[in-house]
Amino acid sequence: MVIVGAQWGDEGKGKIVDVLAADVHIVARYQGGANAGHTVHVDGETFILHQIPSGILHRGKRCLLGNGVVLDVHQFLEELDTLVGRGIDAEPRIGISGRAHLILEYHKQLDQAHERLRGALKIGTTGKGIGPAYEDKIARAGVRLADLMDEERAHRLICTAAERANARLRALRAEPVHASEVADNVIALRSRVLPMVTDTGREILDTLQRPDTRVLLEGAQGALLDVDHGTYPYVTSSSTTAAGAATGVGIGPTVIDSVLGVVKAYTTRVGSGPLPTEMESPLAEHLRELGAEYGATTGRPRRCGWFDAVVVRYSAQVNGLTGLAVTKLDVLDTFAELKVCTAYDAGGEVHESFPYDLGLLERVRPVYETMPGWRRPTSAARSITDLPREARAYLDRLEALTGAPIEFVSVGSAREQIIRVR
Ligand code: IMP
Repeated sequence: MVIVGAQWGDEGKGKIVDVLAADVHIVARYQGGANAGHTVHVDGETFILHQIPSGILHRGKRCLLGNGVVLDVHQFLEELDTLVGRGIDAEPRIGISGRAHLILEYHKQLDQAHERLRGALKIGTTGKGIGPAYEDKIARAGVRLADLMDEERAHRLICTAAERANARLRALRAEPVHASEVADNVIALRSRVLPMVTDTGREILDTLQRPDTRVLLEGAQGALLDVDHGTYPYVTSSSTTAAGAATGVGIGPTVIDSVLGVVKAYTTRVGSGPLPTEMESPLAEHLRELGAEYGATTGRPRRCGWFDAVVVRYSAQVNGLTGLAVTKLDVLDTFAELKVCTAYDAGGEVHESFPYDLGLLERVRPVYETMPGWRRPTSAARSITDLPREARAYLDRLEALTGAPIEFVSVGSAREQIIRVR
């Protein structure tokens, strides 16, 4: 099963993966890097995972980072050590594709220099070097984890790549990096990281050969941040959508049985770019406080909006969603009325499909349906019948508008605050 964010990221994939991980053998991340921030609450403790799959919090589960991931080795080891320090036996359970590309110091410098240069048109990246690392990969100038196996060759490769980056950094009026130092710093970590190298596709297929085995492929960010299908150029630089899962871990698409899209019961976005259902003040601040909508990686306040069914319908299309998990329903508990966007209005012309023209998307006005709120707490609900009638009607409407059946509803951050609908 693939788990994807079906909006702009931060939908609560970490929580859903954590819930499902109890019943699987492998959890594998297929794209992105330390830009992600997956928050998971277990037994009163909070864990924020950036590069390590959320399955790590379940004893004995194998966690893989696929070839589609870009790996910041320093930050990865810090994250790993924090988990180990908190009593999680993480290290022997992690495998990383030797084909995963490395994020090196100059990628972060380039990311930040590009953003400065863009000024008012900045993308609002996390500054973690994601875009430049994927640029190098596509330009066939990247360094892969497996390249660290031969120390001398690795040094040569990294120095060449760093000098190439330095030429760009100078052109952007940014400080160049010390090439040899960059190489030495990552090569020094070889002995810790190389024992984790694996062929992720092979491991997944071998596991699935055994009877009664299951694998979760965990996406980061969301469909609307996909480099092909998102609100380009206000996107991340990887294939966040379900099809990216196959290439991102090294299996064929026919191995995938189902795709679960995770959506919030409303909409949020961090960074720049269109957000048609964005709320105005003070409603946006109110929802942000209720939902604690601050970035898990950067701490930035998230922009907040009503549920946008045009977005999720589109997401169902580009991901082939077989089901939905709706998170943070409880955040809406106090609202007297809720709005749901069913279409966009562009100067009298109604659009029911998500437009590819960014100019049009920036101009559209949402067409809303208003539904009554339930004004009762839902966080103790464990079955769909525990929910107030209005909450069930709200979920039914989301299902009808998006065309994807709801399989899970999350009503709080704790592991047990989940309703299994089907
Ligand atoms: P980048 O991935 O750091 O290059 O950032 C590109 C865009 O994706 C920016 O709008 C970021 O705010 C957004 N983004 C990246 N990672 C996440 C995430 O994990 N959640 C939500 N937005 C993200």
